[in-house]
Amino acid sequence: MSIYLRVRKPDGYCPTSKRALRALPAASTGKTIQGKGYFPLQYTREQQMIMKQTQHVPVMMDEVLTYLQPTAGGIYIDGTLGGGGHTRAILERSSPDGRVLGIDTDCQAIARVREQLADYVEQGRLLLAHGNFADMHRFAEEAQLPFVQGILLDLGFSSHQMDSPERGFSFNAEGPLDMRLNREQSITAADLVNTASEEELADIFWRYGEERRSRQVARRIVRERAKQALTTTAQLARLVAAEVHAKPGAIHPATRVFQALRIAVNQELERLTEALPHMLDLLSAGKAEGPAPRMVIISFHSLEDRIVKDFMRREATDCICPPRMPVCVCGHKARLRIVTSRPVVPGEQEVSANPRARSAKLRAAEVIIQS
Ligand SMILES: C[S@@+](CC[C@H](N)C(=O)[O-])C[C@H]1O[C@@H](n2cnc3c(N)ncnc32)[C@H](O)[C@@H]1O
Repeated sequence: MSIYLRVRKPDGYCPTSKRALRALPAASTGKTIQGKGYFPLQYTREQQMIMKQTQHVPVMMDEVLTYLQPTAGGIYIDGTLGGGGHTRAILERSSPDGRVLGIDTDCQAIARVREQLADYVEQGRLLLAHGNFADMHRFAEEAQLPFVQGILLDLGFSSHQMDSPERGFSFNAEGPLDMRLNREQSITAADLVNTASEEELADIFWRYGEERRSRQVARRIVRERAKQALTTTAQLARLVAAEVHAKPGAIHPATRVFQALRIAVNQELERLTEALPHMLDLLSAGKAEGPAPRMVIISFHSLEDRIVKDFMRREATDCICPPRMPVCVCGHKARLRIVTSRPVVPGEQEVSANPRARSAKLRAAEVIIQS
């Protein structure tokens, strides 16, 4: 039996229904899927090549399994399905009957994993939902999952996305200035770059990219866009490189500006902040017996890591009254126990084999089930 989730989103549908997915082979020859309620989705030949060739190497696989502790019969949520590497491992480890609800905001990720892990989908062990992990409680309800034993977030973007020039994430390849993880969303990086005020742009580059020359970059963008709209990644990368002078051997000068725009376009920090309480509620709905349900979160920059760390610390603390309060008035009770006192980072071997892993930080916490 296969289970398909129809996800009602104001900004459109991903082809995750039976009907649209039956149309996928036609779409993968370059034709457009059309259907009531579904947005057209087109895979060009170039996209198909990239989807086939690019392999996203899941980061910190051993650590994810160690901290998530998948077991037979367990129900798990992978909120960042990506290439499905972690999901596959969780399904294998929780054989023969563990289940995973895999969520991704990127239609292409869902479609690819549906093909690659078709057996698990057919067995009803893998449920797929297109949408934002901030809405995972709704997807879990729709899938009639009463409670879950573990939730994984492996934040950011995948190699599939990075290596597809038409997605606009890479400063190393010419492509449209897009950067949307969910291509049904309306605002692109080009929209931001061409319409935000100089102050707003400087603020984005400083807050989300910690770019020291944020003001100068914003000023130059505003000057250049008055002559000609900025529409490509190469245009923006050249312009940033003219303002940010990289030392030899340092990261590409446009790295921080591109990161900042991606975070702003996808509202990444807001979605993460929204998701964390829902994750805690879903994990807390479980029974008292069995291992304590866990959340495992891998972040790739200090801004998201701080959000995760602060949330876990707060939820692992009984009283959160301001300091120097003579008595507790908040009544807050700890709901989490932090399992990783410090963030766990990948080993040297993993970083040399997969440089993308170098900035990964994993934090895990388990729910205190009130008996
Ligand atoms: C680093 S990749 C995950 C890779 C995955 N763990 C694997 O093993 O292949 C991150 C994925 O999360 C998705 N993503 C990022 N933010 C999201 C959000 N707020 N909601 C749902 N998916 C999101 C991206 O589209 C991307 O596919």
